[in-house]
Amino acid sequence: MLIRPETSNDIAAIRTVNEAAFETSAEADLVDGLRAAGVSPFISLVAETDGRVVGHILFTPVQVVGEVTWPALALAPMAVLPEFQRRGIGSQLVHAGLEACRAAGHEVVFVLGHPEYYPRFGFRRMSEFGITCEFDGPDEVLMVLELTPGAIAGRRGEVRYHPLFQGI
Ligand SMILES: CC(C)(COP(=O)(O)OP(=O)(O)OC[C@H]1O[C@@H](n2cnc3c(N)ncnc32)[C@H](O)[C@@H]1OP(=O)(O)O)[C@@H](O)C(=O)NCCC(=O)NCCS
Repeated sequence: MLIRPETSNDIAAIRTVNEAAFETSAEADLVDGLRAAGVSPFISLVAETDGRVVGHILFTPVQVVGEVTWPALALAPMAVLPEFQRRGIGSQLVHAGLEACRAAGHEVVFVLGHPEYYPRFGFRRMSEFGITCEFDGPDEVLMVLELTPGAIAGRRGEVRYHPLFQGI
């Protein structure tokens, strides 16, 4: 298993992975749309096995709007081909992805996702930090991770995603 940054040769395979893992092509369209929009940072990693892309994870910018507005990243989407799920590939993508974010100097990552899954990587509820999200969801789904311990201290606000996330 190789986890590495996407290249232009991976774009079609990343689309295939997202279409296979999700019920509709909305997430595949989102990935392509964010890339086409030139969103930066665009931290996109693939999991490759036997030369085939079997998993993908993406981190893109969000703004947290409060008394001051501060930047962070959002993990979304991530996907593993159904026949390759539950073998730890997703976990390797999350670990490598968070490390890539940390190495690039980012301090805070948000995710809207499975509450049984993301806490194992250190994600906690946004509400514990007094942070809200522009998207509604059960409290346990709205999560955040400090890559730098204490990075959120004293900060509040509402997480705002790129407009392409509307309707996902
Ligand atoms: C979520 C996903 C990326 C995980 O990839 P993976 O390679 O199967 O992950 P791992 O093998 O590292 O971990 C498996 C864990 O994921 C959890 N998991 C997988 N799919 C899940 C789901 N739909 N709901 C809740 N938990 C899920 C399992 O509970 C499992 O936990 P366990 O180890 O305690 O049994 C993959 O299941 C997937 O592509 N799902 C469909 C797309 C999706 O929902 N993406 C996440 C959007 S937030």
